[in-house]
Amino acid sequence: MRNVVAQLVEDVFEHCRADHSGGPADYIPELAAVDLDAFAICLATSDGHLYTAGDADHAFTIQSVSKPFTYALALTECGQDAVAQRIDVEPSGEPFNEISLDPHNGRPRNPMINAGAITAASLIPGATVAERFEHIRGYYSRFAGRELAMDEAVYTSEARTGHRNRAIGHMLRSFGIVDGDPDEAVDLYFRQCSIEVTARDLAMMAATLANHGRNPITNDEVLSPELTQQVLSVMTTCGMYDAAGDWVTAVGMPAKSGVSGNVLAVLPGQVGVSVFSPRLDAHGNSVRGVNACRELSRRLELHFLRVTREARSTIRSSHGVGSVPSRQRRTPAEADVLELCGHRARVYELHGDLLFAGTEIAVREITSHSDNLDALVLDLRRVDDISVVAQSLLGKMRRALSEQGCESALIDPERRGKAAADDRVFIDLDSATQWCEDLLLARHGKGVRVPDRIELAEHPLIAGLDQTASDHLIGEFDVRDYEPDELVVQRGSPRSGLFLILGGQVSTTLPGADGHVHRVATLGPGMSFGEIPMLVGGETLADTHASTAARVAVLPPDRFDRLAADAPQLKLLLLERLAATAYEQLGSAVRILAGRSDID
Ligand code: DON
Repeated sequence: MRNVVAQLVEDVFEHCRADHSGGPADYIPELAAVDLDAFAICLATSDGHLYTAGDADHAFTIQSVSKPFTYALALTECGQDAVAQRIDVEPSGEPFNEISLDPHNGRPRNPMINAGAITAASLIPGATVAERFEHIRGYYSRFAGRELAMDEAVYTSEARTGHRNRAIGHMLRSFGIVDGDPDEAVDLYFRQCSIEVTARDLAMMAATLANHGRNPITNDEVLSPELTQQVLSVMTTCGMYDAAGDWVTAVGMPAKSGVSGNVLAVLPGQVGVSVFSPRLDAHGNSVRGVNACRELSRRLELHFLRVTREARSTIRSSHGVGSVPSRQRRTPAEADVLELCGHRARVYELHGDLLFAGTEIAVREITSHSDNLDALVLDLRRVDDISVVAQSLLGKMRRALSEQGCESALIDPERRGKAAADDRVFIDLDSATQWCEDLLLARHGKGVRVPDRIELAEHPLIAGLDQTASDHLIGEFDVRDYEPDELVVQRGSPRSGLFLILGGQVSTTLPGADGHVHRVATLGPGMSFGEIPMLVGGETLADTHASTAARVAVLPPDRFDRLAADAPQLKLLLLERLAATAYEQLGSAVRILAGRSDID
């Protein structure tokens, strides 16, 4: 099946093809000897997929489209401050070859006009012109993802006729903008302009800029994201010279044109576009090139000032931990406390790209509901990207919450939030919720905290029996101690007994479809497990391990069964209590599942 994007590029190509207006650059004789009807449109996505139409592999010289790339190399080699001392970043509103410097600071107005480009070339380090040119050639090749070469004929043609540029070079030298031999700087500039490319190459160079300076095919970081932003900014305001205003309104993409008839345009984070057609307009820009970019921008909605949608909150959902309890089993008294104050610990699930606007809405919403919070959890598992400013805003919000007594944590198994090593980060909602519950119980449930160790006679399944019954039942149990992580009951084993926890914690787990082991419940002193297989038979459904050093009283199946004959009343009483416990566990499980259905 034909890719619809490929078809659209082809349609734009056919739409622009009929226009034969304009003429070739002839002030460089070699440039006049071209196939005027050659025409190519290439679109490369920021992950490196290329769509082409027409003569995508037709070779031509890069000319002024070279300027952003040498500017990028100068920024990388010399630093932004050093370059800024010699080249400004202001649109000149004049033709590309204007012989002019800014009257106030003597600098070329920007690196996209010839004066600025010659200055940028003069900044490329190297012992000889050949070495400096090799540096430039190699750098362009990294953007293109293949080795590029110079067209000797075009270079010779321009070197022979480029008097205006030599005048610009000497003027720059006279103002101290260019150090050393100005003819060398101009020669370097002629060489860079004569590097041979195709529309395919330029689309990949544009895609590298769209991909924040990293070539999407070779994964080579050619330019830092910060300097990529700098270069694209100057391309936006200056890249189309005295047609820049019309370009930004009609196309709306950072761009650069060249007198070969090439145009390169970039939409950061999305696409790189290149068009080649030698016929130029009065500004020295390719007629079909400008029209094709205008048409692509319209049809693909590429204009960078097109607001696709107003910023929306990045909060996908939020809930109090009282409505979605952890799988840490709580005693009835603890559960009552959490029921009362569960709203004082809140989980906010964020999603999508956290940029300023969406994060600002989330921060505003969280802050406005934070007055009575003891604990806050930010769930980042559905977040795709977090900008530096978003990280900063969330970090400042968490510190401010801490100062008002609200502790916070992240759920961030992929570490997208780039939290500090000592930050509180959980891998799943269940463990983060347990942390909230423990904090709430520590703050609001002092009287109900379960002791770390109880005697068998104090266990709720036995407490309250008359002494005879209690002594009889206790005599039927074996008390066992388990080391941390020791297996207590294996999943799939037959009914193994009734287990009463006297000290420490045990957890029941199940293997998940995701390959991880998921906690079903964690139980502490005063709780029990194994009831259901003992009551209804069948296999044990989950593994149970000691989470900590644990002490457990076990009533083996044979003694449980023998109770019916030895002490039928006691057995009936035990069954009633077991049924009540099993029902309570079922209720807790239903609440967890109901609360998590759209969250976990
Ligand atoms: O310096 C020149 O005149 C050429 N080497 C490049 C000029 C150019 O590409 C202007 N862009 N439209």
